[in-house]
Amino acid sequence: MPKVYLNGKFLPADQACVPVLDRGFIFGDGVYEVIPAYGRKAFRLNEHLQRLQNSLDAVRIPNPLTNDDWALMLNELIAQNDGDDQSLYFQVTRGSAQRNHAIPENPQPTVFAMSNPLKPLAAEIIKTGVSAITLDDIRWQRCHIKAISLLPNILLRQEALDQDAAEAILIREGLATEGAASNLFVVIDGVLCTPPKGPFLLPGITRDLILELAAANDVEYREQNLSREDLQRADEIWLSSSTKEILPVTQLDNVSVANGQPGPLFKSMLALYQSYKQQLRGQ
Ligand code: PDD
Repeated sequence: MPKVYLNGKFLPADQACVPVLDRGFIFGDGVYEVIPAYGRKAFRLNEHLQRLQNSLDAVRIPNPLTNDDWALMLNELIAQNDGDDQSLYFQVTRGSAQRNHAIPENPQPTVFAMSNPLKPLAAEIIKTGVSAITLDDIRWQRCHIKAISLLPNILLRQEALDQDAAEAILIREGLATEGAASNLFVVIDGVLCTPPKGPFLLPGITRDLILELAAANDVEYREQNLSREDLQRADEIWLSSSTKEILPVTQLDNVSVANGQPGPLFKSMLALYQSYKQQLRGQ
């Protein structure tokens, strides 16, 4: 039985309970993070904890733990679960209170964390890529907050799955923002492009790392708005996230992206990403 963390205790997943009046349960009132651990070490921990702090500040939940306490807790969670590579999920909700939209005066946040196995992407997917469809971005105006209330993202992802696609690429007022649970990259005329940060997309930790690797390896890149037409003329389209790393999109709206194969820049960026991970394992 996997071990989870709940409000200071490690316990088997089937013994962890939260009160029914927890505002996470009633309102989806909370924020979360997902961090990969490679070789039992949390990847880019400081960056994830900074994003957590930003999300907490944006929704006015006090951070219940210091960064040192977060690190201790997550390391213990890794130690108590199987596998060298794990996907760590943790969330902070505003805690329990009588149901009332107003924010309670002295909230006692609920802290929950769990670990799931993290498997490398199947070789077949890297070889062939995945399909994506474009959909209207029906989410709210604060997509930079990693909120646990994910109903629009769930519906968008499911709509993609219903159409045999792996992801929905979201379009807001003519511009592509990101995927339902991933950031977006395209290669146009040899330049790697991704939409700039702002309220309409999550500032992905994987996204930042890809840009860092691009800068360090002389890959020309630009943070710029991308139209639907940019997607249609792109030589390569990628999605990025902590759990899927970098995923090549080879079909968009049932049309091949360029020649319908993962492109050369994808292959070199994936190699850079893997060697960056390996360094962390060796440390
Ligand atoms: N989601 N955009 C959205 C809407 C996301 O939900 C995610 C990740 C990303 C990529 O962010 P990062 O590189 O920091 O993982 C972008 C996680 C994995 C999830 O909800 O499971």
